[in-house]
Amino acid sequence: MHWIQVGDYDEMSELAASIFEQQLLRKPDSTLGLATGGSPQGFYVSLVKRYINGGFSFKKVNTFNLDEYIGLGPDDETSYHHYMKRSFFDFVDIPVSQQHLPNGLADDLLLECQLYEQAIEESGWIDLQLLGIGVNGHIGFNEPGTAFQSKTQVIDLTEETRNKNSKYFSSEAEVPAQAITMGLRTIMKAKQIILLAFGEEKAGAIARLQAGTVTEDFPASILHHHPNVKVLYGK
Ligand code: GLP
Repeated sequence: MHWIQVGDYDEMSELAASIFEQQLLRKPDSTLGLATGGSPQGFYVSLVKRYINGGFSFKKVNTFNLDEYIGLGPDDETSYHHYMKRSFFDFVDIPVSQQHLPNGLADDLLLECQLYEQAIEESGWIDLQLLGIGVNGHIGFNEPGTAFQSKTQVIDLTEETRNKNSKYFSSEAEVPAQAITMGLRTIMKAKQIILLAFGEEKAGAIARLQAGTVTEDFPASILHHHPNVKVLYGK
């Protein structure tokens, strides 16, 4: 694991965006794994700016998001579909058919998980995966206790996660109880991973990750077994 301490949030965002820009210059038909939440907001702003300045395109790119809440659709402002549109997809040239997120409204959720996993595999797995980290060590929505061998799956969100994410909803009761998330095995198939963690709130999770014990009780710890991870962190 490669640890990169940043001085501020903007530095983290710029650095992450520059790594994505380099990836696209090197391989214009990359498969990108994308994340939502507060951590990557600045990253999307920077990546869109770089795209507008020219030099690279997303036309041949496929994107797969880590997760989506069950019960929320693209028109729902609190869905991750909506987040991706307003933060990124509306400003770049990725064809809609190449933008993938799990469908939280699918009638058959297990089938949806299988199809999502299959689509990632058929895309040749992810070239470059962006991750945030939950204070409990979750990556995607893989909560503590998730099997390291998990594929895309339906997950029950912990009370802690629902409480943390309630800031994006009108109340905690509005936060869905479940989500579809790429599994830990799916994430580990990515060729390169960038994890973003900024602020005092994440310091505990980063310290635990740095300590190095690999356990399913702390899902992000699986990243110690990946050959190409950069952790961009600071507070
Ligand atoms: C959320 C998301 C994760 C995200 C994490 C941290 O619940 N499902 O993919 O990385 O929690 O979010 P934030 O960046 O807002 O702190």
